[in-house]
Amino acid sequence: MKKNEKLLQKIFECLADAGRKPQLFEPGEQLFWNDPHISKSMLDAHLNPNTDGASRRAGSIEKTINHLVSTSVIKQDDKVIDLGCGPGLYSSRLCMHGINVTGIDISQRSINYAQKKAEELGLSIDYICRGFLDIDYDGVFDCVLQIYGELCTFSDEARNRLLGIIHRALKDEGRFIFDVSTRNLRMREGATNNWHFSDGGFWRPNRHVVLEQGFDYPEHDAWLNQYTVIAEDGEIKTYRLWFHDYSLSTISQVLNSNGFEMEYVWSALDGAEYKAGSDWIAVAAKKL
Ligand SMILES: C[S@@+](CC[C@H](N)C(=O)[O-])C[C@H]1O[C@@H](n2cnc3c(N)ncnc32)[C@H](O)[C@@H]1O
Repeated sequence: MKKNEKLLQKIFECLADAGRKPQLFEPGEQLFWNDPHISKSMLDAHLNPNTDGASRRAGSIEKTINHLVSTSVIKQDDKVIDLGCGPGLYSSRLCMHGINVTGIDISQRSINYAQKKAEELGLSIDYICRGFLDIDYDGVFDCVLQIYGELCTFSDEARNRLLGIIHRALKDEGRFIFDVSTRNLRMREGATNNWHFSDGGFWRPNRHVVLEQGFDYPEHDAWLNQYTVIAEDGEIKTYRLWFHDYSLSTISQVLNSNGFEMEYVWSALDGAEYKAGSDWIAVAAKKL
């Protein structure tokens, strides 16, 4: 078959498959956080102080750290691990408050940036490039942080495995501080069925087409943002970003059945008072 015919066939197969609703938590393309181009786009998004793209805006990060430290949810002599630290926007601010921080992230590009920044600022932070599920600490930390809804990206089985790893990493009565999104946010911000052409952008450096789809799994409180990227050179990849949203009652149950008790709840980690129907639920939970 000629090259063009093969490509056309691939595109048709991909378009035919785009109509299929994937199985719950069916994986897509694996290389995302460490893709040479996407990781660069992500780092740019993390470092943009004016958007909530990959990290929240600078003002919100500042407010969050001030809240957690001033209320002693994180104490001066605590040993803290920041899971999914990205380029270290929270870790570095905690360190400036004199707190001992370890930052873990799967993105080598983000960790390289975080290490360089810490060196420039004279901050002593232990940054490690590793997956959440590959850490192995036993009773080491006073607090585990996981910020910007990362817990929502896991299936129930993987989430419980991660909660077990976090539980083990904490000292007795240590705190797990995190936030999860709610269905409220998803109904507004979940991907819609759409497509666009780009001369080069977030997904690829050169010309490409993106088919964007949103799939709802209401009986599981889950949502899939699916992006099929068709590049000019004929490469076709499907990226799946899964979200398991929570309510106050479902996240409390999950914590209780994994050895935690909810100590504080807010609508945001900056200390905003919890209100039913909020987009986010922010929690500090104690290891039992
Ligand atoms: C939404 S970003 C949030 C980053 C940071 N917490 C913040 O709010 O600025 C999620 C981060 O988790 C990291 N990440 C995703 N999956 C991971 C995994 N399995 N193990 C470790 N890090 C992961 C990504 O590289 C990314 O930096």
